[in-house]
Amino acid sequence: MPLTPTASADLIAIVGIEHARDQSMLSSQDPGVDSGNLGADLWLRPRDCDELSQILRYCNAHHIGVVPQGGRTGLSGGATSHPGEIIVALDRFTDFQIDPVSRTALVGAGVKLSVLADAAAHFGLSAGIDLGARDSATIGGLVSTNAGGIAAFKHGTMRERVLGLEAVLADGRVLSELGQVVKRNEGLAVERLFIGAEGTLGVITRVSLSLVAIDGPVATALVAVPDLEQATQLVSRARLLTGVVPTALEVMSGNHADSVCHDLHLEDLKPLAQAAFLLLIELTAPAIDTVQAALLKLLEEALESGLATDALIAQNETQRITFWRVREDWAVDRERPGGLWYDVSVPLSKIAPYVQRVTERITRHDSSLSVYVIGHLADGNLHVTINAKDPITARYDEIAGLVTSDLIALGGSYSAEHGIGHEKKKTLERWIHPTKRELMRGIKALLDPNGILNRGKVIPD
Ligand code: LAC
Ligand code: ZN
Repeated sequence: MPLTPTASADLIAIVGIEHARDQSMLSSQDPGVDSGNLGADLWLRPRDCDELSQILRYCNAHHIGVVPQGGRTGLSGGATSHPGEIIVALDRFTDFQIDPVSRTALVGAGVKLSVLADAAAHFGLSAGIDLGARDSATIGGLVSTNAGGIAAFKHGTMRERVLGLEAVLADGRVLSELGQVVKRNEGLAVERLFIGAEGTLGVITRVSLSLVAIDGPVATALVAVPDLEQATQLVSRARLLTGVVPTALEVMSGNHADSVCHDLHLEDLKPLAQAAFLLLIELTAPAIDTVQAALLKLLEEALESGLATDALIAQNETQRITFWRVREDWAVDRERPGGLWYDVSVPLSKIAPYVQRVTERITRHDSSLSVYVIGHLADGNLHVTINAKDPITARYDEIAGLVTSDLIALGGSYSAEHGIGHEKKKTLERWIHPTKRELMRGIKALLDPNGILNRGKVIPD
């Protein structure tokens, strides 16, 4: 049912006309990663918790669907919105304070990750989380989706970074649990339910984060490996080094690297991209000489023992950025748009046979499908992506079974770091344990009895 003119006027009055947009204005706005993000009838930008609380109270009373949005970089459709719903944008929640002595930050939900990272860097600190969408993704969105990224093998996912948070509930009540200490046992940690709930239980407005020391100088290499088994062994070796610490241990299949090198005309890297898999290894140490020497030694030993077949060390920052582009760019999606992304976790020791099995299953199922793999190898998170000549977006659920069928038995996960959104909801419903299903539904009913928050996402039917 579309939003009535009365409801629209009442809601606009809360934030003021200059902070509201209707559907005709939204259609000219960038929807972000998902073209369905701006399908709602109305977009509101509350100034603070109080305005947000008034909006939610109103929507709860009138059973109006609410979709909270941050940087709209989510890859699972957690921010898509529909006619009859409203969007609440948190982009005015941009205050933050850093306490360098306690190594904490109190951060508004709308603060972009790169903004926080730059500010923390002045104190030699970092949020302990980094990902490709750092310039657009917001802290509220990152916490709501329990984002992971490059550094999760060192500092955990967003859940491990959060000390406390504030959220507005569906009925407008405010839950304020903004403790800034690691040790805080005050009964049930109810606020932690909002981490990874993707806005289905309440809208996160502020977060208290634990910060970590910033990494020292880095040395970066792009390494060709004969297969994933060797790649995992090399990752294990890198993690056992003393005096240096890995800051990134990323993996990509050769066909991914080859397609980026081709598209970006990276002639120097093309021979490396002929390998079955590539690793991007980045190490840090207090001194540049130490880290460079350690990387060289690691690679020499890897080449001697056959764990690697070829390697390039970045000679300068420009080359380092190019190496990262090979990992983070997604040329395949430009060449063959409309592919599928699966976001899985597998214990490191079981990754190689898993990928082999999945690749065989998919090509047996349909030989016109190509499988690409990128990911954060050290924590076992892989993005298995599948492309074909023509768009295959509609085939998500058909192929999901082939990718996810043995993950639970392996001790892995069918949903690693991109959230459930609506894209993985059927997969969740397929694999969720019945007790967990009941608990999730019960918690949703308790916190959002009218079902206004992010309808159709995450919570199983
Ligand atoms: C990546 C993001 C998309 O790893 O998760 O590239
Ligand atoms: Zn990722």
